Formats: sequence, C-alpha cells, structure tokens
Amino acid sequence: MRVGVLTGGGDCPGLNAVIRAVVRKGIEVHGFEFVGYREGWRGPLEGIRADLTVSDVRGILPRGGTILRSSRTNPFSVEGGVQRIQDNLDADGVDALIAIGGEDTLGVATKLAGLGVNVVGVPKTIDNDLSGTDFTFGFDTAVNIAMEAIDRLHTTAESHHRALVVEVMGRHAGWIALHAGLAAGANVILIPEQPFDIEEVCGHVQTRFETDFSPIIVVSEGAVPKEGGEMTLTSGEKDSFGHVRLGGIGDRIAAEIEQRTGKESRAVVLGHVQRGGTPTAFDRWLATRFGLSAIDAVHAQDYGTMVALRGTDIVRVPLSEGTAELKTVSPELYDEARVFFG
Ligand code: F6P
Repeated sequence: MRVGVLTGGGDCPGLNAVIRAVVRKGIEVHGFEFVGYREGWRGPLEGIRADLTVSDVRGILPRGGTILRSSRTNPFSVEGGVQRIQDNLDADGVDALIAIGGEDTLGVATKLAGLGVNVVGVPKTIDNDLSGTDFTFGFDTAVNIAMEAIDRLHTTAESHHRALVVEVMGRHAGWIALHAGLAAGANVILIPEQPFDIEEVCGHVQTRFETDFSPIIVVSEGAVPKEGGEMTLTSGEKDSFGHVRLGGIGDRIAAEIEQRTGKESRAVVLGHVQRGGTPTAFDRWLATRFGLSAIDAVHAQDYGTMVALRGTDIVRVPLSEGTAELKTVSPELYDEARVFFG
C-alpha cells in the first residue's frame, strides 16, 4: 500500500514527530510505502512530492516546523482543484492520505473524504481550538513559551513600574492566553470569547499599581472590546480560507491604559515565536501517539476519521466531528481566572 502524508496550515511544534511515527510504524510494522506531499494541499494539487523513507525521518523528533513544509492552499478555491488532487493521487499510486492540520486543512480533508478520497486526519494547532480532541499538539509548547516570556516580562514591569500588555496567538479561542496567563500569574487575561470593558481593565491595572507591583495583561490577538467590538487587523488581506491577519490589539490596549491611568504602558507581541523551535515532552508524546494511531487507521481502512485524545486514550472520531465547531473557553473556566485579576 502507498500512503501520502501532508502538513497544512500554520506550522506547529510536533509535526515532525507525527511524520516520524507514521513513517516508522507504516514501514516497519505494516510494510507500507510513503509519498511525502510538500506544502500542504499544494503538494497533491500541483504534484510536488518525494518518497518518504525511514532514513528521511531519522533525527527529526525534536525539530520544530515540518520537513514537508506547509501552506494555506485551499484546493476548493482553485478551479478544477479537487479533480487535480484525485488525478495526482492516482498517478502516484497513492491508496490513502494522512492530512495533518487544523480547522482548514481538516475541513478540506472532510470534504475530500465525502467525495470518496481515502483520508485520515491528525489534528494540530497551537490554538487548541479543534473540537473532538481534548488537546492538540503544539499547544503545550506555545503555552510554555508564552509563560516563560511573561515570567521574564514581570521583572521589567516591576523594575520600571510600568504596565506590560502581552499579545499572544488565538484567533477565536483564548486557550493560550488563559493557560499561559494562569501559569505565569497575569493580572488580567483577555480572550476572544469574552469581550472586555477597558474601564474594568484599567481598574485592575490601578489596583495592581496600588499594591506596589506592576500589572501584566495577557491578551489573545482576537480579543475585542465591548464597545466598538471589532477584531484588530494588521491588514485587510485574506488567505485562501478567507482569514484576515490579526494583530495590534496589544498596542491598542497599552495606549488606552496609558491615556486613562497616566501610567507608562508597553505592548509585547509574541507572534510566531510561540510556534517555533523544539516541542515540549508532552507535545512529542501526543504527536507520536497520534502518528501511530493514524497509520493504524489507514491499516484498518477506517477512512474519513481523525485521531483524537480523550483523557489519556487515543481514539478515532469522524473527521467532521473535529471541524464541526470550534472548541472555545467556557465562561466557567474564564471565571476561575478572574479570581487573580487586579
Ligand atoms: O492557527 C494558528 C495560528 O498561529 C493562529 O493563532 C494565528 O492567528 C495564525 O495561525 C497566524 O497565521 P500566519 O502565520 O499564517 O500569519
């Protein structure tokens, strides 16, 4: 059997661990052959590929990024795109495809599965916002990077007695802000699910200054103010899945704090640093187990499914379940964090 593998969407620590597990078990246990498609869906769309062997995946477990490269290509927005993918898979003798990606990549996989393509999905995103799985790999690494950055920023905030606003990733879900903010003792956490009142934020900032400590405000890039509640964009440009590029809410909040409280305030945008470099032990463990389970799903010809973490078990769920809705932070979880505001 010949199996294709691709990684799509934003890169994410742990992608290489999945590829390694898929290829090692696929070749050594199941006797499969592999085709690595490059740059996400652009690979099978344009026929950009190379054979993947055990020697290609040696040494990649701790490496960030993806040896297969990635892109945000959407074959459904290209005329004749789906037919080209089907033709290329046939020409390459590929019997099944493993698609490793987030909402968009798995959304394409779901539609292709509906059209009869043999696909198994592996959920990835640092945002942790895919339903159907308790966690996605990459999230733990991103949270640890953000936590370490906030720990460091505390000392500058204290030394200069200024407010620091830390903008983290999270387009529609505030998981990174919530987990990193709680872990690093942020004084305010702002997430997309809960529009914020800037007066209330400034109140927490004042309280913190009154205790002679300096406030750290962690904000998801997709957070919105209650009044004039629109997401802050860096440009109006959209990718092929229709997503705009977010960024700038940290600067907006810092300017408001400075103007309303008279205290010096600065913003720090963590950006792609959160997605870079070596995965944590948890992400290597999860990504490896996802890879092993995905190749077993191919062996069992259980197509149209996605591997998922439920408790400590890896299970298979319908692909559509992973992309049906976004997994967001509940009001109850957010309320837990409020105890530490101010
Ligand atoms: O989906 C993961 C993510 O890192 C989001 O948190 C962020 O909004 C987006 O990707 C950024 O994408 P890009 O790197 O393509 O600008």
